[in-house]
Amino acid sequence: MKLQGAHVVVIGGSTGIGFAAAKLARQEGAELTIAGRSPEKLAQAQRELGEVRTIVADISNEAAVRQVFEGISHVDHVVIAAGNIVNGRIVDNDLANLRRIIDERIWGLTYVVRSAAPKMTSGSITFTSGGLSSRPRLGTAMLTAVLASVEAITPALALELAPIRVNTVTPGLIDTPLLHNTYGTERDTMVKNREAMLPGKRIGSAEEVAQVMLMLMTNAYMTGEVLHIDGGGRYV
Ligand SMILES: NC(=O)c1ccc[n+]([C@@H]2O[C@H](COP(=O)([O-])OP(=O)(O)OC[C@H]3O[C@@H](n4cnc5c(N)ncnc54)[C@H](OP(=O)(O)O)[C@@H]3O)[C@@H](O)[C@H]2O)c1
Repeated sequence: MKLQGAHVVVIGGSTGIGFAAAKLARQEGAELTIAGRSPEKLAQAQRELGEVRTIVADISNEAAVRQVFEGISHVDHVVIAAGNIVNGRIVDNDLANLRRIIDERIWGLTYVVRSAAPKMTSGSITFTSGGLSSRPRLGTAMLTAVLASVEAITPALALELAPIRVNTVTPGLIDTPLLHNTYGTERDTMVKNREAMLPGKRIGSAEEVAQVMLMLMTNAYMTGEVLHIDGGGRYV
């Protein structure tokens, strides 16, 4: 029980990678708070996780993020796994769409750090980036810039927030609801094409990413790090 008695907060903890991280933390004895926008998804997660504090919050809303942390006296670990894939070329995408990427991933991260850090004496904060940070595709320019910024801010915040440790996980393609929500009917073809290219001939699971997040929570010498988990996807 590596997290016995620890309070772990997962923003974006109702599905996918965040849910898997919450589940693993629970198995290691943690008390849990999970947040997301949809009450239905949170309720479903609660049914699977058992005793867990759920709170409806959009990470891009500062007041909502503050509320996530207001009910907790001491925080040990924070995971941010919230974030959507917003595609579209810079020249013809709505500015509101492009701003949303920054609001969720840069301002959202900022709100979480400002609310969480005063309640932490050590422990860790883990961000989630994505392989697009270094391998853009057509229509991902803003997302690529923002994900690279999440990775860049990681060591800077590790210095600022010490002894709280700060790390980022950068997943490749992972089998979560995000893929269907983003790519719809093209999801299966996209996954099949990617699987054919990957050294292990499969995409990753949310549980595999969660294992990396658990390691970052529990290994007290890990800070300022950006860890890739992509099945070798960067090299093909
Ligand atoms: N799956 C992949 O292939 C992949 C690859 C690289 C990186 N990533 C990144 O990993 C992170 C987790 O993705 P996932 O695949 O696990 O996606 P997911 O299954 O869609 O889960 C996302 C979680 O975040 C919540 N969320 C989304 N937007 C939010 C917001 N604005 N405020 C608060 N909560 C929000 C969702 O609940 P609600 O919708 O109810 O808010 C859900 O709990 C994302 O940042 C994603 O970009 C994923």
